Amino acid sequence: MNLATRYLGLDLANPIVPSASPMTREVESLERLEEAGAAAVVLPSLFEEQIEHETMAINAALNFGAEISAESTEGYFPEMDNYNTGAGDYLGKLRAAKDVLSIPVIASLNGTTHGGWTLYARVLEEAGADALELNIYIVAADADQTGAEVEAEYLRLVEAVRAAVHIPLAVKIGPFFSSMGNMATQLTEAGADGLVLFNRFYQPDIDLELLSVEPNLVLSTSDEMRLVLRWMAILYGRVGASLAATTGVHTVEDVVKLILAGADVTMLASALLRYGPELITSLLDGLSGWLDERGYESVNQARGSLSQLSSPDPKAFERANYMRTLVEYSSKV
Ligand SMILES: Cc1cc2nc3c(=O)[nH]c(=O)nc-3n(C[C@H](O)[C@H](O)[C@H](O)COP(=O)(O)O)c2cc1C
Repeated sequence: MNLATRYLGLDLANPIVPSASPMTREVESLERLEEAGAAAVVLPSLFEEQIEHETMAINAALNFGAEISAESTEGYFPEMDNYNTGAGDYLGKLRAAKDVLSIPVIASLNGTTHGGWTLYARVLEEAGADALELNIYIVAADADQTGAEVEAEYLRLVEAVRAAVHIPLAVKIGPFFSSMGNMATQLTEAGADGLVLFNRFYQPDIDLELLSVEPNLVLSTSDEMRLVLRWMAILYGRVGASLAATTGVHTVEDVVKLILAGADVTMLASALLRYGPELITSLLDGLSGWLDERGYESVNQARGSLSQLSSPDPKAFERANYMRTLVEYSSKV
């Protein structure tokens, strides 16, 4: 079975790509992912706050003497030390990944504001990244800011990073836009070669013992893939960017559905953290088997065949589906 696909202009052996997570942090697990069949990997993100912290620390040391402690610089967030210890460490990991892997390595930048830190994209390009994923993780909590202003921030950020690099650029976004299709088009016009749908916003929880607000990361389940499935199907063939699916991809069925909806690649984090890199081998076997049984010759042939453009029931992706769902449920009771 021909599983080859193209993402961000890169020719990939298949549509399975581990997304940014601790699973893609160390060279040993990256090698296991490649061995299991991963077609490319996305490294964990380097965060705007980390870059700014290091830049401030360097400036402080240059201006006032080397005895100034990095830890005392405003904006330091030590909890990140366990995940990703900063820009220097990040470049070392990126170079090591490039040395040992033959599949494409996608570096990731994660931030929200248009600023000097975006120039770091060029440093990642120079360190050998085959492509860059820009994760714009904005929780639009300022009630004085309009939706149009929030969207303008996204676009300025994409334009700034686009201007800094020549390698392909993917933009990872959340689903919370008033007009997702229009935003997808605008992001593409601003320079995104690919869109990664969707960021999973981690919801804080309240600890009733400590009476404090706590971060609470729960791994995803396949059910969460449906939101991605809908927008994949609606956007396929309508934007000039590659489309990657992230959130809730766990099983062969999830991968197949997303390809039928229009995904160029499907990305996994939670499932790999739960089952290990070897899951990829069984997903690839299952995908080949499924396509073969239905008479498809390749992933490319199957892609988009149930997108909104090709579906015999295009309204099923919109409001009509909502009404039908309610009617069908009440007729079961
Ligand atoms: C522990 C953990 C760490 C993650 N770190 C990053 C990161 O550094 N950058 C990023 O863009 N996404 C990060 N993600 C998000 C994943 O790449 C992915 O988009 C998200 O988990 C949804 O996919 P899933 O349902 O397969 O987990 C992380 C996810 C997990 C679970």
